[in-house]
Amino acid sequence: MVDLFGIKLFYDGKMNDLHITCSTADPSKANVDALLVSVGEFGRETPPWKSLGKVLGPLCEESDPSRRFFGKEGSVVVAPSLGRIKPRFIALAGMGKTSEVGVWRRCFGAAVRKLCKNSIRSLGVLLPFKHTDLEWVVLAIEEASYQFQNFKSNGDDEAELEEIVFFAQSVSDEAIRQSTVLAGAVRRARQLANQPGNAIDPRTFALEAQQLARRRRLSCVVWDERRLKREGFGGILAVGCGSVHPPRFIRLDYRGGPARQAPVVLVGKALTFDSGGISIKPSDKMDEMKFDKSGGVAVLGIMDAVAGMRLKMNVTGLIPAAENLPSGSACRPGDLVKMLSGKYVEIMNTDAEGRVVLADALAYAQRLKPRAVVDLATLTGACLIAFARECAAVLGNDETLVEQLQEAGECTGERLWPMPMWPVFQEKVKSDVGYVKNSAGREGGTITGACFLNAFMDKSVSWAHLDIAGTAWTSSEEPYRAKGATAFGIRLITHWLRTLA
Ligand code: BES
Ligand code: MN
Ligand code: ZN
Repeated sequence: MVDLFGIKLFYDGKMNDLHITCSTADPSKANVDALLVSVGEFGRETPPWKSLGKVLGPLCEESDPSRRFFGKEGSVVVAPSLGRIKPRFIALAGMGKTSEVGVWRRCFGAAVRKLCKNSIRSLGVLLPFKHTDLEWVVLAIEEASYQFQNFKSNGDDEAELEEIVFFAQSVSDEAIRQSTVLAGAVRRARQLANQPGNAIDPRTFALEAQQLARRRRLSCVVWDERRLKREGFGGILAVGCGSVHPPRFIRLDYRGGPARQAPVVLVGKALTFDSGGISIKPSDKMDEMKFDKSGGVAVLGIMDAVAGMRLKMNVTGLIPAAENLPSGSACRPGDLVKMLSGKYVEIMNTDAEGRVVLADALAYAQRLKPRAVVDLATLTGACLIAFARECAAVLGNDETLVEQLQEAGECTGERLWPMPMWPVFQEKVKSDVGYVKNSAGREGGTITGACFLNAFMDKSVSWAHLDIAGTAWTSSEEPYRAKGATAFGIRLITHWLRTLA
């Protein structure tokens, strides 16, 4: 076990799994720190427990004396129960009229987040809806209750939520187990993605992958820089060669399906830090580039979830990990780099490094005769300009795959929106001296980034690229989640894989 700043590896043991149970007892007498009741607009769903009335009644009066807009979308009331019921706090989450997953997630989360500021370790939840929705409720609670505070040492770290009790009848053990697995995978991924560049570099990232593999019984192979040189991974080496922390290539295999079944291959960009290299970034917000590993972290999280859920299919995760720094040994603008595919890339801008490491990983992915390839990458700032933080961009060579992924996005609230890869865009990445160039300038940046990758894909292989630059992290706190890593992609891709299994 490696000790980083006194913290354990995140994939060690059962760290951070929420303990979830179900109860039909009277919630007003339950041994939980707080109770959460969700209320639709007009307050139609009165909880069936009379005992809550004596607390809920006055609370409702207080929050909305006219009683007309009670339950309004996003409204939150948190109050101490003053001994009138056993839980110390009671919270009301206004859910509005819609049942759209993204909206509910925010409304529910806002109440949870406010509650958790009161050092809540256990939370009771009155389920107002059908039990099949248990999973997203758990995910919303995970999302809202998490706070990255590993390195705070001033003694005022808030207590973490450890336990959820659902007051509902007949929630299946299997549903609880699956929710626990998914929420745990998301939680561990956020914790890893939030780590700074001096704690997680390509080597320690690989150690995390190996730890996950042990925990979930996956096979894991890590190639170091010597092996990468021998195998011809020129792209990954070129991006990583400016740092004293050399690059790694990580392969994880989950075999839940028949031995001969083609695997779905997931590829995740893991730049443990992206300074831009010789084409250095402005210092403003450069600190955020520790999140440039989010695609790779999402792939770890998906493998964690898929194996934990024991899906009946084969999934392989590939993660090129590197640190992009300027130095005397760094790659320069103008360099020609021989890639794994044998083709030469002209480096126009060393800050367009993600596509260079991904191109090698995608070339490798195609050797595995995959059923489909999906890559996740914080690839372009242009994606953030196009979509803000509301959705990820999806581009690919297979319309059906893109549609399936979009559909999974709507179901999970991790939304995708397509962009075109017309031949005119493909033309823009052609190089005068090599096969392609790694930057075609600012215009249409997300599209040309994808077109670069497309140049390394065989048309016969079904492939989609998700640009998660806008969605992988938030720069400021929101009512329903802390700032920092969001683990975007895990809920989405796991959902999609379940529809295939
Ligand atoms: N990791 C960045 C993309 C990024 C930028 C994500 C800002 C989130 C916020 C990526 O490696 C990068 O630097 N891309 C360049 C590409 C350009 C040089 C063609 C960009 O977007 O500026
Ligand atoms: Mn970059
Ligand atoms: Zn980057």
